[in-house]
Amino acid sequence: MQNKQEILEKLTGISSSRKSYYSELVYLVEEMKKKNRQLAVINELTQIQINATWPQTSSYLAAQLSQILAFEHFALTIVKGGMPASYLCIWTDSDWQCRTLTQPAAADPALFIEQVHQKLAEVLPQHFATSVPLRSQLNQTFGFLTLLHQEKRQADKEETELIELVARHVGVVVENSLLFQDVNEKIKIEAQLIQSAKMAAIGEMAAGIAHELNSPLTAILGNSQLLLRDMADGPTAPLMRDIYQCGVRCKKIIQNLLTFSRQEEYLFETVSIDEVVEDVLGLIGYQLSVSGLTITREMNVPSLLFHGSRHQIEQIVINLLLNARDALADSEAPQIVIRSFLAEEAGVRYVGLSVYDNGTGIPKEQLPQIFQPFFSTKERTKGTGLGLSVSLGIAEAHGGRLFAESEENGYSKFTLLLPLLEREEDNHGAETNFDCR
Ligand SMILES: Nc1ncnc2c1ncn2[C@@H]1O[C@H](COP(=O)(O)OP(=O)(O)OP(=O)(O)O)[C@@H](O)[C@H]1O
Ligand SMILES: [Mg+2]
Repeated sequence: MQNKQEILEKLTGISSSRKSYYSELVYLVEEMKKKNRQLAVINELTQIQINATWPQTSSYLAAQLSQILAFEHFALTIVKGGMPASYLCIWTDSDWQCRTLTQPAAADPALFIEQVHQKLAEVLPQHFATSVPLRSQLNQTFGFLTLLHQEKRQADKEETELIELVARHVGVVVENSLLFQDVNEKIKIEAQLIQSAKMAAIGEMAAGIAHELNSPLTAILGNSQLLLRDMADGPTAPLMRDIYQCGVRCKKIIQNLLTFSRQEEYLFETVSIDEVVEDVLGLIGYQLSVSGLTITREMNVPSLLFHGSRHQIEQIVINLLLNARDALADSEAPQIVIRSFLAEEAGVRYVGLSVYDNGTGIPKEQLPQIFQPFFSTKERTKGTGLGLSVSLGIAEAHGGRLFAESEENGYSKFTLLLPLLEREEDNHGAETNFDCR
């Protein structure tokens, strides 16, 4: 009997009397289940999307970690460029809602944690925060994980070890995301340089052509005006009037080309969105209409103003229209609708401009990629894949946004939002209820 007990102890690793044997076994099984759950969650942490936004990453971490750690709220803090940004996740009825808290970094990195706790205490008073640092391979701190509790509690040894283990795993993933963002930023800058070189070359060429055409056109306009005066209402007068009108149109196009090519300084000024559309259509409207497209304009009255670079916003609209033209190449009734409207988001008013086409549309899986530099589905000679990425960069530099909605084989709609330059009449202007999400 004694022997049997010994064998049992050796097999199970449990030294106990027969009475407590089963309860210890149950405890052991529960412990193993807990460890398995922790391992599964830690494994899940490696699934964080490298290109996810920080609020998305923070919500994901909160959802995963709440399965193995006890906390009421959760925050991920990233210290980047001397600016700690905390992504605080608060549990609402069904999911983790994330909000961003930023502040200038303390001069001494050792004070970062205190600073983060102070900021969190402003939003969640009477909560106790416990933070663990996220460290890089070079042992530099680039962020924190913070667990928030309503009651002061002391983590036991096991819990502390688990939090540190989690922080090591999250640290690797977050460091990869930071590296990815850095590389992506560099690719974007490179793309912008290539695109601006391309635009500069087009500008130079346009200026050359415009100068060449300007003098003969002045002669055509002047002479046709003189002849018209002599003809009075003679039978050939309508033909001459036609020549004169066409000349005026050419002059306008040339003026547009000249303005376009001269604008390399990217001056910020007060610009009306109507003028931008007008100028762009003056430049490429003909090119579009010869492709058999119908272009409809629905502009807000009164015209909406913004503060920005006319040239750069024109670049965006040109890119959008040329993309629409390409998407409509095989359409039966190709149509482009350009619409301007007033939009409002979180109390800020925006000038909205949408470019709609009923062309090929964009497959769902490609939609997240179209704003990435060098993403193109066009032939190599036709597209560089820079148009949208550069346009997005310009929109963001203006404090605005550019986004797309589309249905494959249905339509594409690109919307540009730029902060509105308020003027008295706009406060009484037609307001479009627009959902900016
Ligand atoms: N209106 C649209 N309809 C359908 N697909 C579009 C539309 N606009 C953009 N796309 C898709 O997005 C991709 C990226 O567009 P983007 O303007 O950045 O580059 P591109 O037009 O291919 O080249 P580039 O503008 O540099 O000459 C396009 O190749 C196309 O697949
Ligand atoms: Mg393009």
